Amino acid sequence: MSTNKLSSRLYPSRIDLPADARTKIVELLNQTLAATLDLKTQVKQAHWNVKGADFYQLHEMFDEMADELEEYIDMVAERVTALGGYACGTARMAAASSILPEYPTEILEGMEHVTALAERFAPYAKHIREAIDTTDELGDADTADLYTEVSRTIDKRLWFLEAHLQPAEIKSENGSTAAKSQQKVGVR
Ligand SMILES: [Fe+2]
Repeated sequence: MSTNKLSSRLYPSRIDLPADARTKIVELLNQTLAATLDLKTQVKQAHWNVKGADFYQLHEMFDEMADELEEYIDMVAERVTALGGYACGTARMAAASSILPEYPTEILEGMEHVTALAERFAPYAKHIREAIDTTDELGDADTADLYTEVSRTIDKRLWFLEAHLQPAEIKSENGSTAAKSQQKVGVR
């Protein structure tokens, strides 16, 4: 059976949520499982390979982030099975259906890794936030609550990542605004 079919497989269950809603929720949760497994291994990749003056604090922070994601992997997979679904949780299944791009292999320094992770936490955060509404609309407040918990942590981690990048981004934005206004008034 292909991963596609497996991701919406449903076993008989006495749970009181209708089967058609559970099929949709299980499929969505399996998409989340793939992305979470992918993201966790990418964070570990950063944890191992980061270099530079900020090595130690980033090495530690990335490990904390990976630990949180590990917890969510288990939470998401067990929600799939609680709903009567089949959890698609092998590395190959995750790689085949993750919504995230592969982690860059040519980067070296701290801020390059922080940027690469921010670029992955942002689409992951969007996926999780959208899933809150989708599962709520499907009448599954428990899964919506699970997604809400994940969402809060992921937003916080995106903030932690972006806090490292914002001074440089704000400075370069101000620089280009200043350059534009200088051009406008003809300052050379
Ligand atoms: Fe480690």
